[in-house]
Amino acid sequence: MSLLLVVIVFPVAVVLYVLLENWRLFSKRQQFSKLHGCQPVPKEDPYDIFGIKKVISSTQHLVNKSVLSSSIELFDKHGETYESCILGQRIVMTCNPKNIMRVLVSGFADFDSSTVRVHLFLPITERGIFSVDGPEWKLARNLYRGQFSNTRSITNLEMLEKHTQIFLDQIPTPGNPFDLQEMILRLILDVTTEFAMGDSADSLIATQSSDKKKFVAALLNVKRIMAKNGFLGPVAMLLSNKEYYQSCGEVHHYVEERIRRTLSRNKHLDTSMKIEDSNRHTGYNLLESLTQNSTEILELRDGVITILIAGIDSVTSLLSTTFFLLARNERVFRKLRQEVLDAVGQETPTFDHLKNLTYLRWVFNETMRVYPPVPFNARTANKDTTLPLGGGPDGNSSVFIKKGQRVVFSSWATHRSHNLFGKDAHEFIPERWESLTSESLIGFFPFNAGPRACPGQQYALAEASYIAIRMLQTFPKIKNCDFRPWKEHLGLNLSNENGVFIELDRGFH
Ligand code: HEM
Repeated sequence: MSLLLVVIVFPVAVVLYVLLENWRLFSKRQQFSKLHGCQPVPKEDPYDIFGIKKVISSTQHLVNKSVLSSSIELFDKHGETYESCILGQRIVMTCNPKNIMRVLVSGFADFDSSTVRVHLFLPITERGIFSVDGPEWKLARNLYRGQFSNTRSITNLEMLEKHTQIFLDQIPTPGNPFDLQEMILRLILDVTTEFAMGDSADSLIATQSSDKKKFVAALLNVKRIMAKNGFLGPVAMLLSNKEYYQSCGEVHHYVEERIRRTLSRNKHLDTSMKIEDSNRHTGYNLLESLTQNSTEILELRDGVITILIAGIDSVTSLLSTTFFLLARNERVFRKLRQEVLDAVGQETPTFDHLKNLTYLRWVFNETMRVYPPVPFNARTANKDTTLPLGGGPDGNSSVFIKKGQRVVFSSWATHRSHNLFGKDAHEFIPERWESLTSESLIGFFPFNAGPRACPGQQYALAEASYIAIRMLQTFPKIKNCDFRPWKEHLGLNLSNENGVFIELDRGFH
C-alpha cells in the first residue's frame, strides 16, 4: 500500500496540485486583464513559437550592425508595441512614449532593472546602483543624491581646463586626419577618473605610469566584455569569463589603492580641517566626498567604479557624435561657433556660460535625439501589471504584462518617430528645438525619466559644454575626412563603428 502511495498516488497528487495552481493563476490573470480592459498585442511572428528564428535574425543584425535600423522596420511593420519571442521568452517591445513613461515613471514600482543586467554588473560592482532594486537601490541612489544635486559645486572647472588643454595640444595639424572619437574617449577617461577619485588616469599623457596604463586597459576590457555579454544574455553565464574576472580584479585593486590612500590621508588631516575644506583646496572629487559618510572599502569601491562605467562612454558618445555631425553640417558649426564667440569670446568658460548657451543646448539635444547614447533599455515586471497602449486591433487598449515579463523600450525609435518629430525626424536640425511642443518632448528621454533617471545628467552636460566650447574657440574650421555613412557600434553606449575621422584647423581667430 505504501509503495502504491509513493509510486502512483503521490505523483498524481503533485501533478493535480500544479495544474490547479496554474489554472487559478490563469483565471486570476484573466480577471485582472479584463478589469484593466487589456487586449492582445500584435505578435512579431506567431509561428516562431520558441523564438528560434528571432535568435537567428537578431544575430544577423548584430553581425551586420543593423540592430537599430531593423528595429525601426519592425516597429513600422507591427506597430509601436508588439510581442516578440526569444528562446521561448515572450518580450514586449515598445517605442510608444506613453508606455515608456508608464514603465519609467507612473508604474516605476512595478518594474525592476537589475534583473536584466545583474549578471553583467555583479563581478565589477557587486552592490552598486546598477546591480540592485528596491530598498537597496534607494540606499545606493542616496549615496549619489547629495553629490549630484548641486552641479555647480561638483564641476571642477580648473580640472576640466587642465585636461582639455592637454587634449587640444595633441590635436594633429591640418592635413593629418585623426579619430576624434578615440581622443575624446581618452580625455573623458582622464577627466572622469580625476572627478571620481581625485587622481587622473593620465591616458593623454606620454609619461603615463605603467600601473595607470594597466588600469585603463583593464577598465576598457571590462566594458568591452560587459557589452558583449549583454547581447549574449544568460548564455554569457555559461561561457568562461576568466578574462572578465581578471580585468575586474585589476580595476578593483587599482581603485582600492586610491580609496586606502584617501582614507589614510583623511585620518592624518588636522582634525580642525574638514574634508570639505580639503576639497575646496584641491577641487571636488567624489571619493573624498563619499568618505564623509562611509569608510567601508567595498561600498566606496562600488560607488567609484559605477561612475567610471556610467560617466565615460556616455559623455564620449555625446561629444564625438556632436562633432561627427558638425563636420557634416558647416552651417550649424558656424552658427554654434558664433554663439560661443559672442558669449564667451576667447575667455575661459565660467559655469554660467556652460548653462546659458541656448544653441549649444539645442545641438546637444538634437545629437542625443538622433543618436541617443543609450539607444534602448529594458525592465522586468515584478508583479502582474499593464501598459496603457498597444492592445487590440487599433492599438488603443491596454496590454497585460505578467510578472517576470520583460519590456524592451527604444529611445532610438521613439526619438525618430515621424508623429512626434515630423517627416524629417531622421535628420539633424538643431533649430527644431525652438518650437517642439510638450507632446513631442515626452518622446525625448536620453537620460531616461522618473526616479531612476540619470543622476549625472546636469554634470554630463556641463562637462560636455566646457569641452565643446573650448574646441569651438580654438578651431574656426572643421573638415570631414570620412564619407562612409554612420554605422552603429553597440558598446555600453552607442558610438560610430568607423570612428570620427576629421581635421581641425586653428586658422585665424
Ligand atoms: C551624455 C551622458 C549621459 C547619458 C546620455 C546618460 C544616460 C543614462 C541613462 C539612460 C541612465 C538609465 C539607465 C537605466 O536605468 O537603465 C543612466 C543612469 C545612470 N547614470 Fe547616466 N548618462 C550620462 C552621463 C552620466 C554621468 C556623467 C554620470 C556620472 C558622473 C552618470 C551616472 C549615472 C548613474 C549613477 C546612473 C544609475 C542611476 C540609477 O540606476 O538610479 N551618467 N544614465
